[in-house]
Amino acid sequence: MIRLAVIGYGYWGPNLVRNFYNTPDCKITLVVDSREERLQLVKKAFPAINISTQINDALTDKDIDAVVIATPVFTHFGLAKTALQNGKHVLIEKPMTRTVKEAEELIELAQKHNKLLMIDHTFLYTGAVQYIRKLIESGDIGKTNYFDSTRINLGLFQPDINVLWDLAPHDISVLKYIHNEKPFSVNATGVSHTNNKIENIAYMTINYQSGFMAHFSCSWSSPVKIRSVLIGGDKKMILYNDIEPTEKIKIYDTGYSVKSNEDKQKILVDYRTGDVFIPKLDTREALAHMANDFIQSIIKSTSPVSNYELGIDIVKILEAADNSLKENGKEIKL
Ligand SMILES: NC(=O)c1ccc[n+]([C@@H]2O[C@H](COP(=O)([O-])OP(=O)(O)OC[C@H]3O[C@@H](n4cnc5c(N)ncnc54)[C@H](O)[C@@H]3O)[C@@H](O)[C@H]2O)c1
Repeated sequence: MIRLAVIGYGYWGPNLVRNFYNTPDCKITLVVDSREERLQLVKKAFPAINISTQINDALTDKDIDAVVIATPVFTHFGLAKTALQNGKHVLIEKPMTRTVKEAEELIELAQKHNKLLMIDHTFLYTGAVQYIRKLIESGDIGKTNYFDSTRINLGLFQPDINVLWDLAPHDISVLKYIHNEKPFSVNATGVSHTNNKIENIAYMTINYQSGFMAHFSCSWSSPVKIRSVLIGGDKKMILYNDIEPTEKIKIYDTGYSVKSNEDKQKILVDYRTGDVFIPKLDTREALAHMANDFIQSIIKSTSPVSNYELGIDIVKILEAADNSLKENGKEIKL
């Protein structure tokens, strides 16, 4: 039985507590939040769980085996570092840390203390993303040419991170899970409509040497909520619309072929539009799979799906995007 403390009971923490509460082989013994009023909500919903405003109760107590960190991003590094130094397994919410250097330090500590360090990139555990990965692996959509995601809504302006750090980790994690090529460089542009200069609209491109391209459009300033990804293969194309309650994936038997032509000025393109297939997906809550992966990876000493290699790769891309934003979209090599 893994004894667990959850740190942070704001917006996301309650989802984690609810899912870990129902996960086999673990027991939540403590929830910590610096705000007493949030802890009263824990007591009401889960009377058996202890509560505390004192962070050290979670980080140093010998009766706690693992901690789940669901606090703002700038606190992830310090909390995870102390937890690892005290011999705890650690699950950190996405994105892993604010800098690559911090992520490297945490990985070193986890290795030194032989503890599991995992990042919650929840989307990897959705039925939709699992299905897309298998579909691409099967060769059914052919060679993948592009990944184009849009994640926009009238979002909460975060005080410490820009819109790319807030929203893009979801889509970058999906991209890295379904396309195994090492990215080459990053370009990003964006705009801030507030005094703190934190971008609330941003566009990022990840470039690859093979010619594959990934683009991300992120915004907290849209009147409509869109969460969609287009994945183009040379045989078929996928639309992943996360807003759809059941028909999240549509596979278009659509494509084009470019004919070779002696006159290089003229391009002859043959278009093909065929059927659209909507697969049935596993609809179990992704967080339940994620929680189970964390606990079983501790017990079996295995690497989870959402491992720290993925976590640090995403921070590397976001850090490069920050540097590109500062230089008006300059290409930054990874
Ligand atoms: N996986 C996902 O899909 C997903 C979704 C939303 C948020 N998140 C991530 O979850 C994390 C938390 O986001 P949120 O939206 O819940 O934030 P939030 O601000 O709503 O909640 C954070 C909570 O942590 C508490 N807190 C802050 N510092 C603390 C400290 N040092 N000790 C104890 N408690 C402390 C605050 O009082 C607050 O209740 C972020 O990393 C965010 O990126 C992940």
